[in-house]
Amino acid sequence: MTTPAELQAQADALGWYHTIDLGNGVVTKGISVQETSAAVLPDVQGRSVLDIGAWDGKFSFLAEQRGADRVVALDHYAWGVDFVARGAYWEECIRNGTLPDQSRDETDFWRPDLPGRRGFEFAARALGSKVEPVVGDFQKVDLAELGRFDVVLYLGVLYHMKEPLTCLERLRAVTNEVAVIETEAVHLQGMDGDALLQFHAGSDLRTDFGNWYVPTIAALHNLCRAAGFARIETIVGPPPPPPPATPPAASAGLVHEMARRVRGTPAPEPVRSAPSQNYRAVVHAFAGS
Ligand SMILES: C[S@@+](CC[C@H](N)C(=O)[O-])C[C@H]1O[C@@H](n2cnc3c(N)ncnc32)[C@H](O)[C@@H]1O
Repeated sequence: MTTPAELQAQADALGWYHTIDLGNGVVTKGISVQETSAAVLPDVQGRSVLDIGAWDGKFSFLAEQRGADRVVALDHYAWGVDFVARGAYWEECIRNGTLPDQSRDETDFWRPDLPGRRGFEFAARALGSKVEPVVGDFQKVDLAELGRFDVVLYLGVLYHMKEPLTCLERLRAVTNEVAVIETEAVHLQGMDGDALLQFHAGSDLRTDFGNWYVPTIAALHNLCRAAGFARIETIVGPPPPPPPATPPAASAGLVHEMARRVRGTPAPEPVRSAPSQNYRAVVHAFAGS
């Protein structure tokens, strides 16, 4: 019989992305700093759930604990890539100012023994879970074989995709009721209604060469609509607008007017910038209206 202290020590010997409560005070020490709030998940009671990009399985286990009928945890990249070896290569690229050859992830840095799945397996054992792991790249897996699910979780995956629309079309194809899409998003003040995609071709976003398209909330809605979802609901949207600027002091108005008179032309207006702020957006994309 393993004591909680022994289980904690065993958990601590593994690397974790997710912080998972394994019961009896045993908690994994996850490194994820932008963990999705469990509050954004829809009701999964009695539903089938697919968790794409499950990694250590936190949201798969949560769905199971909330009464889902069947849960499939699909992942590929984080389970098979040797992050230490790949990290050294990326650092070399940053030093040389070059872009990495990302195809090496599936050759030179790929470990068929799936070292990145040990956390999932450990947590599944500790929780007595029946979540079914599936190793697969969602961009390529046979969708007919994978099947359709009532609720599909697509958390923290979209901005890692080189072909976001194609991936969302595939997401729609496996969704019976609702897909939960959580993604890095960009808020451009006053322009959230514009459907814009910010493109990253380097490691400027969180030192990760695997980040590509970052949408505004309007672009995220449009992508989902184009992919065939019938209705999209924003669960976490852009940050609220900043408080209105304080009116210029009377003396500032006077300086402006004096400058106008002296030069005979309007004094330059203060430059209005459109501050860009990244945040994590969440939408529910419904298959039917
Ligand atoms: C930022 S992590 C998010 C993990 C988890 N879904 C969450 O929200 O905490 C991205 C995950 O997506 C997985 N992933 C990336 N590309 C994938 C693909 N093409 N097919 C399946 N999983 C993928 C990664 O392996 C990793 O586990």
